[in-house]
Amino acid sequence: MSENNVLLKMEHISKSFPGVKALDDVNLSVKAGTVHALMGENGAGKSTLMKCLFGVYHKDEGQIYLNGEEVNFKDSKEALEHGVAMVHQELNQALKRNVMDNMWLGRFPKMDNLPFVSEKKMYEETMKVFKDLNIDVDPKKVMSEMPVSQRQMVEIAKAVSYNAKVIVFDEPTSSLTEVEVEHLFRIINDLRSRGCGIIYISHKMDEILRISDEITIMRDGKYITTRDAKNITMNEIIKLMVGREITNVYPPKDNVVGEPLLEVRGLTAEYSKLSDVSFTAHKGEVLGVAGLDGSGRTELLENIFGIATRKSGELFLNGKPIKNANSRESIANGFAMLTEERRATGIFGVRDIQANSTISSLKRYLNGPFLDDKKMAEATQWGIDKLRTKTPSQKTQIRSLSGGNQQKVILTRWLLTEPTILLLDEPTRGIDVGAKYEIYELILDLAKQGKCVIVVSSEMPELLGICDRILVMSGGRLAGEVDARTTDQEQIMTLAAKYV
Ligand SMILES: Nc1ncnc2c1ncn2[C@@H]1O[C@H](COP(=O)(O)OP(=O)(O)OP(=O)(O)O)[C@@H](O)[C@H]1O
Ligand SMILES: [Mg+2]
Repeated sequence: MSENNVLLKMEHISKSFPGVKALDDVNLSVKAGTVHALMGENGAGKSTLMKCLFGVYHKDEGQIYLNGEEVNFKDSKEALEHGVAMVHQELNQALKRNVMDNMWLGRFPKMDNLPFVSEKKMYEETMKVFKDLNIDVDPKKVMSEMPVSQRQMVEIAKAVSYNAKVIVFDEPTSSLTEVEVEHLFRIINDLRSRGCGIIYISHKMDEILRISDEITIMRDGKYITTRDAKNITMNEIIKLMVGREITNVYPPKDNVVGEPLLEVRGLTAEYSKLSDVSFTAHKGEVLGVAGLDGSGRTELLENIFGIATRKSGELFLNGKPIKNANSRESIANGFAMLTEERRATGIFGVRDIQANSTISSLKRYLNGPFLDDKKMAEATQWGIDKLRTKTPSQKTQIRSLSGGNQQKVILTRWLLTEPTILLLDEPTRGIDVGAKYEIYELILDLAKQGKCVIVVSSEMPELLGICDRILVMSGGRLAGEVDARTTDQEQIMTLAAKYV
């Protein structure tokens, strides 16, 4: 493809925040009719670069050209008017309002010749976009009543509805179901064939290699290289991203499975289809939970942790009955849970890293009636070092960290409660390849200390790589239980389809 096909060109972009040079002389050139992947570790500067394009942040240095003309958007409204749209990593929707309000916020269609918002037009226009994209969502539904994955689809439809020439997708699939991912890829392919330039950010290697034409790699705020996606392997990408060779994807499984620790009998949920699930988890064990989306994996953890209503069933810890009626009781019983929807349930945005790390384990830092600052700082630092959380300091507000680094802080919070049983729902979602290894290591360390870790994951290689046993859920029921050392993906998939 020739130079004159270039739709977007960003040159020598630099941007600093207090204490961090987030971007240092970065280049990006996106051709019309292509999907351009932007890759790099957590905190590399991907989202920041895109926010500089979109007018959310203002670059300190550099130039941006759209169709050869220099542009400098003062805000996202101006970017949208010039045909640049962005689906953000953090959904920022008005949850109390309905789908169509969210679609047209800031540009409500008016009644003919009148200054009033036309609900009818809004509905029709929304239906038109949804139909075009094959999205099956009721425009009048309130956002908060929909699963995250559908909210994400609404956001995608909104970006497309601006008829943008350049569309940025910042980790769009992190909360989509498999079917929705396929759907999104069809939309992206369609946009590409219409001549759009797509910028695609993701930590999922298989997606990148499947969908992209070109790949730009960033590291520590710097531009590393741009390659043709057809001429680069996954290992090369990883090496360029992390700047070192990663030889092992999984740490050695040298934990020893011991006595039964948690027994679950006939667990049935009140408001979901989770039904009659029984199993035993052991000391020193990493127990995986596999299954398709909607198979009841998250509901299972939520029921054990007491944040979803139980209809019937019993729990035994070391042979003694326990209730875990709510999260407080579960924490007192030695449980901890990393929830799937971290942004909604986990983050205290305006508070700093230290507060977000220590908030669930405050008892540990008491010195008489007072909290001991030094102890809290030590505990926080442990998490930063262990997970290599990229932050200027412990006093930085968590919302200014990159998406993946925010997640590391929330994981630290639960590790600091020193749980006996740790429940993890998609722990490596949004985490880069290098940091995944550190999380796996932590999980296996806990098992080696005789704790039990129960992990829900959609990534099967990950479950096979770190677990001792895997429970397979299907249609709200337990379809089977397999030994992770001897099973394979095919056996798990067959079980996952059992009650569908
Ligand atoms: N508003 C802000 N204030 C202060 N620092 C910020 C702000 N936004 C980003 N940063 C910093 O800039 C750096 C790059 O962050 P960015 O969000 O661009 O990373 P990323 O590559 O998107 O990572 P991830 O894969 O985790 O999403 C990080 O060190 C982050 O802490
Ligand atoms: Mg990001």
